[in-house]
Amino acid sequence: MQTITTQGITMPKLGLGTFKLTDAPGQAAVESALAMGYRHVDTAEMYGNEEPVGAGIAAAGLPRGDLHVTTKAWHDHLAPDAIRRALDGSLGKLKLDYVDLYLVHWPSPDMDLGATLTTLARLQEEGRIRALGVANFTVALLRQAIEEIGAPIACNQVEYHVYLDQSAVLGYLQSKNVPLVAYCPIARAIVADDPVMVGIAAKHNASPAQVALKWLLDQDGVAAIPKAQRPQSQQANLDAWTVTLDDDDRRAIAALTKNRRLVDPAFAPDWD
Ligand SMILES: NC(=O)c1ccc[n+]([C@@H]2O[C@H](COP(=O)([O-])OP(=O)(O)OC[C@H]3O[C@@H](n4cnc5c(N)ncnc54)[C@H](OP(=O)(O)O)[C@@H]3O)[C@@H](O)[C@H]2O)c1
Repeated sequence: MQTITTQGITMPKLGLGTFKLTDAPGQAAVESALAMGYRHVDTAEMYGNEEPVGAGIAAAGLPRGDLHVTTKAWHDHLAPDAIRRALDGSLGKLKLDYVDLYLVHWPSPDMDLGATLTTLARLQEEGRIRALGVANFTVALLRQAIEEIGAPIACNQVEYHVYLDQSAVLGYLQSKNVPLVAYCPIARAIVADDPVMVGIAAKHNASPAQVALKWLLDQDGVAAIPKAQRPQSQQANLDAWTVTLDDDDRRAIAALTKNRRLVDPAFAPDWD
């Protein structure tokens, strides 16, 4: 498994997304993924699944240092006291002493970004988070966090897949050596019905989901966190590493429509 090192942590490039993996099936999915070799798990207080995710981690019985766990604070919990309470809640539910990466889940127009990031830096000093980062940040917000505030941002987690152009965000992140963690990396399985993706997959004896993942994983500084409940899909996603895409494949993927944003809630920032 390839890894990315950022701000003192090393995370596997491929992780397990857990949005909608709740209760006993959520626990089982985490256990299954860890048993087959996943070492990076992505959750959030908003997913309402930190307890089953934590139970899955505990049941796997891995040395804590072998595992990368990300969780996130919701956008109405970004004030210093609120973010501390949110982290307390997350660690309690996960039954962990620390998380490897703690993210601002979404920016908020009301936030005092400097105060939020200073609080995260204190939590890092206290050893309760190993690194801090953001999600759904635009280039303008990243500039504020990295250049104005000078925060040690370890990643920006954003929607990124074959149907969404993220060249501006990725270019900026690469210029600052900050990884992009791609969510919805298989475009919520839309790729399965796309003739272009089906064609590339057939050529490589792979699946469209595997092609979509490998296209991301081949990019410098890009990690991906596909969510998969079924063990067969979890294994297929790990096996995406064995797919070798060529220039024709990359040209065909580059020509796909690139404006399909799947996650765009009312409180999202102005993406442009
Ligand atoms: N920071 C944020 O704001 C944010 C927003 C959205 C998501 N996320 C994170 O990113 C993760 C991934 O995003 P996502 O869950 O929205 O979308 P996704 O990973 O692109 O797609 C998940 C869907 O694809 C299916 N699937 C997975 N592997 C497959 C395979 N090999 N073949 C066919 N189908 C497959 C899953 O089915 P089954 O589960 O039934 O197997 C599920 O229906 C989330 O779980 C979450 O951790 C973060």
